[in-house]
Amino acid sequence: AGTVRFDLSKVNPGELKVVQWRGKPVFVLRRTPDMDKCENRSIKDEYTVVIGICTHLGCIPNWEPDKKIFKCPCHGGEFNACGVNIFGPPPRPLDIPPFKIEGTTIVLG
Ligand code: FES
Repeated sequence: AGTVRFDLSKVNPGELKVVQWRGKPVFVLRRTPDMDKCENRSIKDEYTVVIGICTHLGCIPNWEPDKKIFKCPCHGGEFNACGVNIFGPPPRPLDIPPFKIEGTTIVLG
């Protein structure tokens, strides 16, 4: 129960998909080489998979494709393409949901 499957191959380079998981939005971003490299926060190759709830007070950040950041509409917090807080009041990066990878499918939960 509560498990959600999502096919990563449906995400084009540079595209953000939002997957609902246990009542929360999960951001799936397929990064392009001009975006931040994520190292330890990189989930699978070029994909960023994070819970789309601001770590400040819980608003839903918007993806800004021009700046290649997530910007929170509530108090202006910013997160880079890896989900790391880079500006404003958010105290920590966006959370990473529990998941596993099966082929090109991510299994949340
Ligand atoms: Fe996102 Fe405050 S809730 S910056």
